Amino acid sequence: MRTSQPRTIYLSEYRVPAFLVDHVDLRFELFENGARVHSTLTVRRNPEYPGVAEHLELDGDSLKLESVSLDGIELGADRYQDQGDKLVVQAVPDKFGLNVVTWIEPQNNTRLEGLYKSSGMFCTQCEAEGFRCITFFPDRPDVMARFRTRVEADREKYPVLLSNGNDVDRGELADGRHFVTWEDPFPKPCYLFALVAGDLVLKQDTFTTCSGRDIDLRIYVEARNAAKCDHAMDSLKRSMRWDEEVYGREYDLDIFMIVAVDDFNMGAMENKGLNIFNSSCVLASPETAADTAFQRIEAIVAHEYFHNWSGNRVTCRDWFQLSLKEGFTVFRDAGFSADMGSPTVKRIEDATLMRTAQFAEDAGPMSHPVRPSSYMEISNFYTLTIYEKGAEVVRMIHTLLGPELFRKGSDLYFERHDGQAVTTDDFVKAMEDASGRDLGQFRLWYEQAGTPLLTVRDDFDSEAGIYRLTIEQAIPDSPGQTSKNPQHIPFALGLLGADGTDLPLRLFADENDAPSERVLELTAARHEFEFHGLSERPVPSLVRGFSAPVRVDYPWTREQLIFLMNHDGDGFNRWDAGQRLAVDVIQALIRGDEEGVDERLVEAYRSLLSDPSLDQALVAKMLQLPSEAYLVELADSADAQAIHGARTRVLDCLAQALRGELLECYRRNGDDGSYQLTPEAIAARSLRNTALSWLLHIGDREACGLAQTQFQDAGNMTDRMGALRALVNSCFVTEREAALNDFYQCWQDDPQVVEQWFSVQAASLQAGTLNHIRELLAHPAFDWKNPNKVRSVIGVFAGQNLAQFHQADGSGYIFLAEQVCRLDDSNPQIAARLVSPLTRWRKFAEPYGGKMKQALASVRDKEGLSKDVFEIVHKSLKE
Ligand code: TRP
Ligand code: ZN
Repeated sequence: MRTSQPRTIYLSEYRVPAFLVDHVDLRFELFENGARVHSTLTVRRNPEYPGVAEHLELDGDSLKLESVSLDGIELGADRYQDQGDKLVVQAVPDKFGLNVVTWIEPQNNTRLEGLYKSSGMFCTQCEAEGFRCITFFPDRPDVMARFRTRVEADREKYPVLLSNGNDVDRGELADGRHFVTWEDPFPKPCYLFALVAGDLVLKQDTFTTCSGRDIDLRIYVEARNAAKCDHAMDSLKRSMRWDEEVYGREYDLDIFMIVAVDDFNMGAMENKGLNIFNSSCVLASPETAADTAFQRIEAIVAHEYFHNWSGNRVTCRDWFQLSLKEGFTVFRDAGFSADMGSPTVKRIEDATLMRTAQFAEDAGPMSHPVRPSSYMEISNFYTLTIYEKGAEVVRMIHTLLGPELFRKGSDLYFERHDGQAVTTDDFVKAMEDASGRDLGQFRLWYEQAGTPLLTVRDDFDSEAGIYRLTIEQAIPDSPGQTSKNPQHIPFALGLLGADGTDLPLRLFADENDAPSERVLELTAARHEFEFHGLSERPVPSLVRGFSAPVRVDYPWTREQLIFLMNHDGDGFNRWDAGQRLAVDVIQALIRGDEEGVDERLVEAYRSLLSDPSLDQALVAKMLQLPSEAYLVELADSADAQAIHGARTRVLDCLAQALRGELLECYRRNGDDGSYQLTPEAIAARSLRNTALSWLLHIGDREACGLAQTQFQDAGNMTDRMGALRALVNSCFVTEREAALNDFYQCWQDDPQVVEQWFSVQAASLQAGTLNHIRELLAHPAFDWKNPNKVRSVIGVFAGQNLAQFHQADGSGYIFLAEQVCRLDDSNPQIAARLVSPLTRWRKFAEPYGGKMKQALASVRDKEGLSKDVFEIVHKSLKE
């Protein structure tokens, strides 16, 4: 716990390490009351270090030091200093072996960093700085070493003992104990170290690589989860094939292991050869997991697997470079998911996440560049900006270079930097060198925070047949950054003629074979483009496919939006036009500019619902009204209840007007009994559940019966949960209580399902939800030590339930502040993530904003606040 203000770390302070570690020999003695860690480091001075370092400094955190030996001789207390967070060994030679023995208490580790216990098994999480909770070590990613790890534990309790690489030795020990030794041939930073010891069952498969090597694929889970591994295993094999085909990347070890653990701070971790997953991100069966979970599992398995190259073989020089591995790997997993399903739907999902959550982050107090230049606590920088905006930046390079040159660039990057710890600049340089393109100005995407705003205006000269487009870019100020320079923005454009087809985009009067889509490259604060040879004023289709993470201001008329919804050749922009239309209608209601819901929106939705010849996967997305979170993001000063009220009115109106179409859509998309994960099957389930929820929203009796039947008879969790969600948010009190009880009775032994049961209640629109949330916290299945449970109740309530969280009396905020303070003592990483809804206080109108700020101040005033929460709260309250 902190006693003084935490220190800020700056990128400008980066120095190469004074000492390098070539080899790490670890021996873990695991017991019920603690663990003894013997570490032997082979250390030498770094020839590239400027100056001379007399002392060796190692990082540590919460360690009990037992002994220090240098070249086999135990050092007296006068030769080293144990400063708690550092071990300083004085006057060391140029090359030496250092042995350090520490004692740690995994059984009491509630922070879930370093070595800890989860449902009886030992496991680790070392990224970003967790290895220092295991032993003293230069805990920085540019120190790369070969690891050899011997794990010793009781044979009965912990029959499975795992670490990175290959198992090279095993045997029996006294007192019913045994050991296994693992050796990882690839040098790696310590954040990629992993260890698991437990009573686990093994699901096994093989994969033959492109060069014909057979890889042993292993998924280790608790016995009760043995039947829930198939989807992850299939996803893994598809990922391995895809990375060979699309990036030319072959797997490098002989074994690839995944372990599922219930208690985990994040989604999953790419430890070399031994990925550790949050159970909820790996385990699935059709009966227990919904479509969204299946898709998330496929994406996360791929993400972690792809890190083997983008992250492990080529890693980060320092944590300011985090997006080097995360942004690139998210870009890679997005490409994989697009190829496995519907590319348009995947793009819609990613753009939605960017525009609702990342834009909000980038406009808030924690706004930071894709490559930050300072931080207090690195765990706070595993953000949407680093991951999602970072991926968008890589995607823009892909757009600017085209697929062939991009692949040449990635090949060069992997070849040039294999085995190295590098920077985002090295990545861009490889792309430049392979393509011959100058990405000098493009680098600003890594350095400048904030979402660029593009103001687009047009006019049509009917005499000359010239359509003129002017585009201005402005990047808002953000903490520590003002007067930003224009960025290099790929702007994909189409122009639609009256018949709905794309017109040729002639930049010169006599240009032949002009393409019907162009990627304009914006580099200046203002550009003017002229398109020639047009006989009519076109409707512009702007930033097709969300070609850049920007906001667009263009004065669309509702007619234009409806036209684009029906005709745009770019599926993404058809969806986008529908969203803009719905936003426009909802905002007019909020302002009081319009009395009722524009009939044209109703008719647009009617055609979507009743034309089965349309791409149903796209239709399923187009039917989703813009979320409340997105409407908040678009507002200058958000009135939470007004936003909720207006959106609810639109939903009411649509459901009333389209009752017949919704029932018909429900019937047309009935369950055929098979469970498939094709875009078509997923779309059908989404459509029937959307129809159901809309009808229950208006209290339709017939639909209530349909929901009850679907709830009882569903053959999969998507439909069962769809029915439950619709009932929970309906006015049918008895029916919803019965369904909730029934569901819990049936699934109480499955933690992943209980988490969904908590979430659906935490997201409930019913009045009195806050009281109910307090009851859920007292429920026997709730567990403060389990991040998934905390997220499924408190996280969902504060992050996804706008109307219930934003009570005008501030009770939702006070509740959240209390829970954050409580969690801060046991798990600061989780507390810091949970507090984030309050940090948006400036975005909200009164009385909301002021009361959010008060709640935040009460967290600031808590005694012994962790560094994690300290950083977020102080930055959010700063003037
Ligand atoms: N590198 C992990 C990923 O993106 C992220 C991660 C997992 C993580 N667990 C963590 C980051 C704990 C910080 C702390 O795949
Ligand atoms: Zn990652």
